[in-house]
Amino acid sequence: MQGFQKMGFDLEQTADLSWTLRMQKSVDSSPLEPRSGESMHHSGGAFSETCYIYGPQLEWGLIHHPSPKILSIGLGLGYVEILNATLAVVTKNTQWKLDSFEIVEGLRQEFFEFCLNNKNAHPYHDILNRMSQSFSVGVDLIHQELKSAIETNRLQLHGDLTKYALQKSDYQLICQDAFSKKTNPDLWSDEFLLNLIQACDEKFCSIASYASLGPLKRSVKAAGFQLYVRPGFHGKRNCTMATTLGILKPEEIIQQFDAKLRTF
Ligand SMILES: C[S@@+](CC[C@H](N)C(=O)[O-])C[C@H]1O[C@@H](n2cnc3c(N)ncnc32)[C@H](O)[C@@H]1O
Repeated sequence: MQGFQKMGFDLEQTADLSWTLRMQKSVDSSPLEPRSGESMHHSGGAFSETCYIYGPQLEWGLIHHPSPKILSIGLGLGYVEILNATLAVVTKNTQWKLDSFEIVEGLRQEFFEFCLNNKNAHPYHDILNRMSQSFSVGVDLIHQELKSAIETNRLQLHGDLTKYALQKSDYQLICQDAFSKKTNPDLWSDEFLLNLIQACDEKFCSIASYASLGPLKRSVKAAGFQLYVRPGFHGKRNCTMATTLGILKPEEIIQQFDAKLRTF
């Protein structure tokens, strides 16, 4: 797709046939530096990886909190946002809110356009279809959920997260899906992670990430979270999930999600 190329990304298919974006190594001007050539997802499957890492906590939070506020770090192609809308329809939660951060303006615009005006935009429509099939929800219902969330400001698309002051105790669910530490050192620094932890609702919060970096594990442990280091997606190195004391342990939340028969 030419639009993504102009933004400095190549659209690629992963092994489960879902699409991802790979950063081009050189581009005229971009807010994203360094240009590491990193892909946004595991080559084993962008769709499957997103469901594996973020599905359990999103579904659990939507069931057990009447109005969960979610933080998504890195909109990219919007897998986390579309997964959340799908699970919101499944769980009948109509009061969720989601702050999604994306430094590349073009990615925010494409996703916004898809949600409001163009359900068939490529590759977003493909992601919608996959969610619809895996979770047995109509495509139109998921799209309508995204559209109404944008229209009512429950789903907000923001820019550079490093320039944003996160509010204390604001979020119940956090999806830390930034690029790796090499590409995104700012979003894995001790200082950033400290702010992230302070933005968690102390009584009800779950954080998940595809990564299992020392600074993340140290920060959640220091804050007294229950930490679970899970096997990574598709044989990748470990990934992380942590929950505040007083709510279910991460491994139990994952079991509840895994226990349901789903194919992704
Ligand atoms: C691994 S990708 C996220 C993939 C995404 N969750 C999806 O579903 O496709 C990381 C994203 O974080 C964005 N990003 C990097 N630095 C950022 C920053 N400071 N603020 C907001 N977004 C940032 C990148 O542009 C990229 O789209």
